[in-house]
Amino acid sequence: MLLVPVTRADLVAYLPQGLNMAEIGVAKGGFSRVLLEKCAPARLYMIDPWEHQDVEHLAEDSNNPDQTAQNERFDQVSHEFSPELKTGQVVLLRAYSHLAAEQIEDRSLDAVYVDGDHSFDAVLRDLNAFAPKLRPGGLILGHDYTNHAVVEFGVIAAVNTFVQERDYKFLAITTLDAFPTYAIAPALEGAAKTFAHTALAGVPGVVELANYPAGYSFSPKYIHKASGGTAFIPSFSTAST
Ligand SMILES: C[S@@+](CC[C@H](N)C(=O)[O-])C[C@H]1O[C@@H](n2cnc3c(N)ncnc32)[C@H](O)[C@@H]1O
Repeated sequence: MLLVPVTRADLVAYLPQGLNMAEIGVAKGGFSRVLLEKCAPARLYMIDPWEHQDVEHLAEDSNNPDQTAQNERFDQVSHEFSPELKTGQVVLLRAYSHLAAEQIEDRSLDAVYVDGDHSFDAVLRDLNAFAPKLRPGGLILGHDYTNHAVVEFGVIAAVNTFVQERDYKFLAITTLDAFPTYAIAPALEGAAKTFAHTALAGVPGVVELANYPAGYSFSPKYIHKASGGTAFIPSFSTAST
């Protein structure tokens, strides 16, 4: 696994252009715009129910606003992306991710960005629902490979469980964002191989952590900087320590 000193916006620029992509969890479309600008995908499925969820683990989540705000977000995204919707480059799927997956053909996607419900069960469900959608050489990326003081984050445990159960390759995490993005793939071939071995391995300051996640525990640290603000330190220990 590569520890890559870039932000997620810079990370996705290392993907090949013209891919078929999906983003799970769109909110106001901020990162969808980045994907369109940096990756020029042939197709981007933007998946979000834009529905307030009355569940305990999302009660304090600012991305789970009331239904009026969710409707406003959907209207704003529909308006902002109307040029791409008209050309068919963008497809909006207003649905929960595991149901949206039923509308996407198996082996039709090159890259999926997972950023919906961050609980352990939901992330694992997203990974399992979208793995069959990948073409050979495809890869899965996702946001917030970390812990959170307020909202229940099961991203680290879910991704590691999935990687180990399905024998995926852990390609990379970003280290310049306070909330890292991860990249994993079923095999080191095609776009996934070019992305990890050619593009990312050449980034100045990249570090490899071999065989991750086997034998490691990842405990992200956040420290208060003397100059103000918070710094993120990716901290790993061997599982036995
Ligand atoms: C963190 S926000 C997404 C932010 C966006 N990816 C970005 O970076 O600009 C999470 C979004 O996931 C959506 N969401 C929650 N549960 C979901 C599910 N089961 N399937 C798809 N989206 C979901 C929420 O409605 C919310 O808009």
